[in-house]
Amino acid sequence: MSKLVGKVAIVSGSGRGIGREIALKLAGEGAAVVVNDLDAEPAQSVVAEIVAAGGKAVTCTGSVTEADFGTRFVGTALKEFGRLDIIVNNAGYTWDNVIQKMSDEQWNAIMDVHVSAPFRILRAAADYFRESAKSEADAGQEVFRKVVNISSVSGVMGNAGQANYSAAKAAINGLTKALAKEWGRYKVNVNSVAFGLIKTRLTEAVAGEGNSSTIDIAGQEIKVGVNAQLMKNIEAMIPIGRGGTPEEAAGAVYLMCIPESNYVTGQVLVVGGGRP
Ligand SMILES: NC(=O)c1ccc[n+]([C@@H]2O[C@H](COP(=O)([O-])OP(=O)(O)OC[C@H]3O[C@@H](n4cnc5c(N)ncnc54)[C@H](O)[C@@H]3O)[C@@H](O)[C@H]2O)c1
Repeated sequence: MSKLVGKVAIVSGSGRGIGREIALKLAGEGAAVVVNDLDAEPAQSVVAEIVAAGGKAVTCTGSVTEADFGTRFVGTALKEFGRLDIIVNNAGYTWDNVIQKMSDEQWNAIMDVHVSAPFRILRAAADYFRESAKSEADAGQEVFRKVVNISSVSGVMGNAGQANYSAAKAAINGLTKALAKEWGRYKVNVNSVAFGLIKTRLTEAVAGEGNSSTIDIAGQEIKVGVNAQLMKNIEAMIPIGRGGTPEEAAGAVYLMCIPESNYVTGQVLVVGGGRP
């Protein structure tokens, strides 16, 4: 029995990688999904895939860092599907360097995409969540809604070369814990899922070795990826013996979206194959 029938989800950065699998998983379990990505083409292709499988989805493209994006994202769910039950803050990228070589631009860009953008998206949903909870309580109902903020083990343990990303992913965990306390009364579960190594273009590309991926952020090409030898060393330290797949990552997010997790809130679930 599909557990998310009648629910509406918004998933940022869901044109590729983990976000894509989250959108497909939530849709596969019955949710209508608003698919966001910086890039229109992959977002449209995820929507097409969901619709072809008999699900419901629309795009809301653009950067999560745009000042009005939160309002637009939440507004799309309400306009297209008439409600909002699940918010997954997933969009993001890495822009690594040791601290002495890290520019203000590099620091601010990563804080903006991983912390400020989720903050604005969640703030845009606040009135709707509060008013819905009030009318549901008046009707004697308890309806749970879900926020899943995507974090990283870098935000839990720290990671050399990622001062900006580690700080940002730790900050999103702080936002998660604060909002769990503010929104408990509205029956909104707010949790973080902190991934270890998940095999996507962020981690599979081999930076500096000829076939690395780049992300175009406001006209600037930013290299992502992990050196091949470093990747082998990381995998050797994972008790399960390998990096996770995007499908496995999406499975953990799904757990935070179903009724069985209704009493779980303010938590950081580490999904790292046994490596914290
Ligand atoms: N892959 C990993 O090992 C790993 C580990 C820990 C955390 N994460 C986190 O998981 C999330 C997804 O990463 P992924 O590995 O799937 O990367 P990915 O590059 O495969 O996918 C990320 C998607 O987000 C989009 N995106 C980037 N910036 C955006 C913006 N400003 N607005 C809208 N969309 C934007 C990209 O276009 C891309 O389609 C990120 O928050 C990342 O930090 C990944």
